[in-house]
Amino acid sequence: MSQRKIFLVLLFISTVSLLLHHGGHLNWTMEAFHLGCPAIHSHPAPGLKPKHTNVAFLKTHKTASSTMQNLLFRFAERNNLTVAMPVQACSHQFCYPRSFTSHFVHPHTIPPNIITSHMRFNRAELQRLMPNDTKYVTILREPSSMFESLFSYYNQYCQSFKRVPNGSLEAFLDDPGRYYRPDETFSMYAHNTLAFDLGGEKDRPESDVVYAQSFLKEVEQVFSLVMIAEYFDESLVLLRHLLNWDLDDILYVKLNMRTTSSKRSLTPGLQSKIRAWNSLDARLYDHFNASLWSQLSDLGLDCVAREVRLLQRAQERLLRSCFGERMPLVRSAAEIKNKELRPWQPSGKVDIVGYDLPVNSSPGFSSQAQELCLKLIMPEIQYSRVLLRSQSLRYRRGYQLRTPQMSHPPLQPIRTVLPRHPQVQRSQPPPPAAPGPASESGSPSTSKPVAGTQGRTTKLGLKSSQTQAS
Ligand SMILES: *[C@@H]1O[C@H](CO)[C@@H](O)[C@H](O)[C@H]1NC(C)=O
Ligand SMILES: *[C@@H]1O[C@H](CO)[C@@H](O)[C@H](O)[C@H]1NC(C)=O
Ligand SMILES: *[C@@H]1O[C@H](CO)[C@@H](O)[C@H](O)[C@H]1NC(C)=O
Ligand SMILES: *[C@@H]1O[C@H](CO)[C@@H](O)[C@H](O)[C@H]1NC(C)=O
Ligand SMILES: *[C@@H]1O[C@H](CO)[C@@H](O)[C@H](O)[C@H]1NC(C)=O
Repeated sequence: MSQRKIFLVLLFISTVSLLLHHGGHLNWTMEAFHLGCPAIHSHPAPGLKPKHTNVAFLKTHKTASSTMQNLLFRFAERNNLTVAMPVQACSHQFCYPRSFTSHFVHPHTIPPNIITSHMRFNRAELQRLMPNDTKYVTILREPSSMFESLFSYYNQYCQSFKRVPNGSLEAFLDDPGRYYRPDETFSMYAHNTLAFDLGGEKDRPESDVVYAQSFLKEVEQVFSLVMIAEYFDESLVLLRHLLNWDLDDILYVKLNMRTTSSKRSLTPGLQSKIRAWNSLDARLYDHFNASLWSQLSDLGLDCVAREVRLLQRAQERLLRSCFGERMPLVRSAAEIKNKELRPWQPSGKVDIVGYDLPVNSSPGFSSQAQELCLKLIMPEIQYSRVLLRSQSLRYRRGYQLRTPQMSHPPLQPIRTVLPRHPQVQRSQPPPPAAPGPASESGSPSTSKPVAGTQGRTTKLGLKSSQTQAS
């Protein structure tokens, strides 16, 4: 045998034995290794940089941001982090559309590691609240498809949309000035929403290029990463690298989507009208889409594509283990049996889909795994409520431990003091329907409250959900 052949045989044997020894765990690292990409670890190895845990995610409207929020909520729970939650008066968002202040934050959730609920961005106030090594992240979506989504989602909230005859997007865009009133309560959904959410001025004239440029520069300064909804997985790869997270930390299920029948496609003519009307948003989007792609190039497009594939594969495995083979489990809200899993519906004209309960109830499937499956598909309002409750419990427990007059062993009295469930006053009538969710604090009373947004009293736990499932 030539030396070359011997070498090849040895190489073959060692590869096979390596694979046999390390099995599946090698997949991710191996695949990445082939391309000379930064290694991907499914578990942090000793000596690796720790995960970054202080994150402010500005949740913009109709941009896949509910999916991001869910991901951050789960990360926080897994790592025992504190998530800033709104005070009750603010509903489940930070009193949007008012500009954010730290008074909107529930005292049981201060100091936070993560903040992600809807707000209108206010840099100074956030910097006062958050740790000084906080990474700021947000997400933008292509303005024409975003506007189409806003137009349909908020057709009953935003007067500017409501007064358009026949609810016609074309009619609105033919003469926006005729329907749009800048000072009405929900006017921000009708004009440069992204800029408004980012704390900017939505009604600057298009000709004010100086303002647009200085605003853009400011956003660039504050945010370490501006994700792009159209390239969600690629954006997640950048997020993972920015924060030093695992692939497991960025797994998700898409939340708060409309059914396909509530969507429409746009002609190029309509698209350019929307971009012209929302010129500040269009400018923002084009700028940050370009910088996203330049960051992706820096990482290596091959590596990014590889990581995206790994992410999608891991996601499929997770979904299958949660929901079995019959994916997807997308349901319209009315079909979802467990009301804790029903997404909020903005109006009768739009159907927001959600997911039904995890179906995997095989004995080998642990309750932790079921919990994860449930959380993956839990809509924002319900999850926010769960998080506030658990953090309040933790806060009170910590408070008890710190109180000096307690001379007895701390654990005993705490158990008796802690309420089993903070919400067991069944005899009381349910509180009035909470004003709508995401996006619509102080929603007009014309809103249709959807089951699940009323009555904070349902205990969300796996046991109750399982019984409802059957
Ligand atoms: C590795 O790949 C095999 C076959 O593609 C797959 O069955 C296994 O689950 C993978 N393991 C991991 C940890 O990705
Ligand atoms: C979170 O807290 C629980 C209970 O206090 C503890 O068992 C767990 O190890 C903690 N997890 C992390 C990641 O710190
Ligand atoms: C954050 O604040 C601490 C104390 O206030 C200071 O020691 C530290 O250098 C600051 N870090 C950064 C990155 O500014
Ligand atoms: C509204 O729709 C009806 C029926 O489609 C049509 O006849 C009418 O002209 C429309 N009105 C406007 C103002 O577009
Ligand atoms: C985003 O930028 C990339 C790279 O420049 C470009 O190919 C793509 O068309 C842009 N996407 C949108 C939706 O504008």
